[in-house]
Amino acid sequence: MHLFRRKSSLLSSESFSMKQGGSNGRKGGNLSVFIVVFSVFLFAMFMYNEDVKSIAEFPFSSKSTKSQDTLTSSTTTTITTPGPTTITTTTTTNLEPSESDNHDDSDIPKKVKKAKKKKKKKAKEFEQQKEIKLPEEEVAPVEKVVVHVPETCDLFDGAWILDNSTRPLYKEHECEFLTEQVTCMRNGRKDDTYQKWRWQPKDCNLPKFDARLLLERLRGKRLMFVGDSLNRNQWESMVCLVQSVIPEGKKKLVKNGSLNVFTAEEYDATVEFYWAPFLVESNSDDPDKHSILDRIIMPNSIEKHGENWKGVDYLIFNTYIWWMNTPDMKVLRGSFEEGSKEYDEIDRAIAYDQVLKTWAKWVDENIDPEHTMVFFSSMSPLHLKPKDWDNPDGIKCAKETYPIIEWKIYFNIGSDWRLFDVAVKTTSSLKRVPVSFLNITGLSELRKDAHTSVHTIRQGKLLTPEQKANPQVYADCIHWCLPGLPDVWNELIYTRIVSSPWRT
Ligand SMILES: *[C@@H]1O[C@H](CO)[C@@H](O)[C@H](O)[C@H]1NC(C)=O
Ligand SMILES: *[C@@H]1O[C@H](CO)[C@@H](O)[C@H](O)[C@H]1NC(C)=O
Ligand SMILES: *[C@@H]1O[C@H](CO)[C@@H](O)[C@H](O)[C@H]1NC(C)=O
Repeated sequence: MHLFRRKSSLLSSESFSMKQGGSNGRKGGNLSVFIVVFSVFLFAMFMYNEDVKSIAEFPFSSKSTKSQDTLTSSTTTTITTPGPTTITTTTTTNLEPSESDNHDDSDIPKKVKKAKKKKKKKAKEFEQQKEIKLPEEEVAPVEKVVVHVPETCDLFDGAWILDNSTRPLYKEHECEFLTEQVTCMRNGRKDDTYQKWRWQPKDCNLPKFDARLLLERLRGKRLMFVGDSLNRNQWESMVCLVQSVIPEGKKKLVKNGSLNVFTAEEYDATVEFYWAPFLVESNSDDPDKHSILDRIIMPNSIEKHGENWKGVDYLIFNTYIWWMNTPDMKVLRGSFEEGSKEYDEIDRAIAYDQVLKTWAKWVDENIDPEHTMVFFSSMSPLHLKPKDWDNPDGIKCAKETYPIIEWKIYFNIGSDWRLFDVAVKTTSSLKRVPVSFLNITGLSELRKDAHTSVHTIRQGKLLTPEQKANPQVYADCIHWCLPGLPDVWNELIYTRIVSSPWRT
């Protein structure tokens, strides 16, 4: 949790934003002043809702006034959800001259009056321009809001709630970009309860995922997942989460070697995945041919990959599963380029520490925290031994249709928590660049039901009926079905992004 709190210096207000509406105990003086200002603001909003919104929208608006502006008006709504998360949204709707334009305004402050006048003028313009028809699929722009989530709230401490009214966030058949690896229902899975769990943090609520708001944040920017197939799993989820609001023909996905790029053309935004399973150079870096048992790394070499991450605006790193084959890691003496063959075998946790230090150094030397947000995902857990969660009749994760609801102290599903600790230590050691540590391990350990199991591919092909009938050998209890758990990981990233100040 302290990791996120460190971010607060970075996140301190750059400009007026709704974010300041939240309480922040550390800013005593500013706080009381702000409470007063905010109360006045709220009061005004209730009194003159229709009018104040034109003021409220002013500080957020950066778009030039085009014809669209004259044809639309905004409604600012503050939704207070149960718990301390306040979501402030501004929706833009077609302007209909309404009753509110005619009410008595003798008590309205000057500023408000002025805004009101302007609006009346707009309404008049609207009358004149009624004939102009917007292109069918023109979508109203989203205002630049900052969603308020208390910085002190630990997003990763909470519970799974069955919620079949808001889940899943998208349907399997609606996302053309999903690969066969993760479309479990299409691949024959019968139960779908695994799609219907919502993560509920103990002390606050996660904001509702709004693809348009995220895309607005990504306008002219790049978001990139870097790491192994679990991060690719999450990248696919992110593509699906945003693609639904982009019309046909305005989106594309290009796979080129280590880099997969989804582009939302109207936003000039990309959601990318870069294959680097150890982050540093290794003999497993070929994105297609990497079924390598003898995995060898160069723990001090990251530049070659790092070149591809420079200038990216949102970076989400991970590395874990490729470390889990053997207790020791093979570390090359010399380099692949020189044709070196000799290696040393080093304890996994020690080699991991070395690699993350190399990564941290790269981040420190190459990231401008004013422009780039950096995330590091903790390990994605495996579910291989049902005895670990008290199910003696289970076969790996194959028969699981329900999460672990109550985590017992003696449960241990074999995650290597030493690596987790290294990641916590390293990400918090960075001084100049704050790194958001995505603590997904604990909450994901509960999701024994969410893996692809036998409803997936192996070496590029769907499992045959015979293979499906043999989960002991063929069940994949590493990757996750989509829609599913990785959507929740992305909601956590979403929360961090939309609650941060807007960057220029
Ligand atoms: C959702 O769950 C409730 C009870 O948990 C059930 O009554 C309802 O039928 C379910 N709806 C759907 C669409 O599955
Ligand atoms: C693929 O990537 C390579 C190397 O990064 C680049 O030179 C090439 O132009 C890319 N091709 C396409 C079709 O984007
Ligand atoms: C990570 O989250 C789990 C709960 O899911 C919690 O028990 C643990 O303390 C957290 N660790 C860190 C370093 O935040």
